[in-house]
Amino acid sequence: MGIVIEKATETRYDSIDWKNLGFGRYFADHMFISFYKDGKWDEGKIVPYGPICFEPAMMTLHYGQTIFEGLKAYYDVNGGVNLFRPDMNAKRMNNSAERLCIPKFDEKKFVEAIIELVKLDNKFVPKVKGESLYIRPVCFGSSSFLGVHPSSEYTFIIMTSPVASYYPEGLNPVKILIEDQFVRAVRGGLGNAKTAANYAASLYAGHKAKEKGFSQVLWLDGIQHEFVDEVGAMNIMFVIDDILITPPLSQGSILPGVTRDSVLILAREMGIKVQERSIKIQEVLEAYERGTLQEVFGTGTAATISPVGKLYYKDKEMIINNNQIGPIAQKMYDTLTGLQHGLIKDTHNWIIHIDI
Ligand code: COI
Repeated sequence: MGIVIEKATETRYDSIDWKNLGFGRYFADHMFISFYKDGKWDEGKIVPYGPICFEPAMMTLHYGQTIFEGLKAYYDVNGGVNLFRPDMNAKRMNNSAERLCIPKFDEKKFVEAIIELVKLDNKFVPKVKGESLYIRPVCFGSSSFLGVHPSSEYTFIIMTSPVASYYPEGLNPVKILIEDQFVRAVRGGLGNAKTAANYAASLYAGHKAKEKGFSQVLWLDGIQHEFVDEVGAMNIMFVIDDILITPPLSQGSILPGVTRDSVLILAREMGIKVQERSIKIQEVLEAYERGTLQEVFGTGTAATISPVGKLYYKDKEMIINNNQIGPIAQKMYDTLTGLQHGLIKDTHNWIIHIDI
């Protein structure tokens, strides 16, 4: 039996400024919701998107036992809609669940619920390249109790939001501050789980950096402040001496990005030399001084491929590739978006096509 659907009686479609979507501002008509109680998840159902009611003692408000995901539905130039590697999000959500003591959600059901939701709200998938329907699953402890231990009840919601690019810069290079005082995560902490705490930890330094005109901060490791971690909203990649270098997942402090993984696979197939290894910020500075730092770019579902044009470390400014997108970042952007919009044949089985 399929998922039960309670249809919205009114649509939010007309209240959306489709020419000026921004990111995360608008929501489609429906959401999927499922509750965990007495040791099991219920069947879940699709209901109109809207407020839900919790008591002030709801545990997540106090102790942050919450995880989320991010993926996108793209219009296919040949008709219908494409999801990009949703199985990876399902898996990653369950890895985050394990770390946060949250009961796992069936991965097949996760993908099935997304497909049903996107089918139902397909008119919210923008028909513009570079725009998409962002899908945000979120799962949190929802018992009412004041005391630090895992919740006994949970709520899992999938909402969708038509979006344009995450950074107002779009595919134009962003300006990033390398943070040398505050930290996002430490080894052994929560850095590789997609949980609210990592984003909360990033707010203060991110806000200070914005005041100084930066888009985001690049985090260094939480102990020596020497090794590059990630940008919080995206993983980071460097091209030095024609080698694509990115910090390894084994550091335990960075998010295992789906876009990161896809770019590494594509790069290897394209014959680009790839190194997943720890990289000191000093090495980046030295490469810049030598003139061998060719490109820096971020990878993320929300950010897609985001070239970094300017990097600041202490008082040092590094202008990367004349503040232009570099050839590898451009190639990755074109290939990924080509696959996602059905312009390039999917030879990896990454796409789940939804007929509308
Ligand atoms: C995503 O890339 O999907 C994320 O969750 C990043 C978030 C900061 C919007």
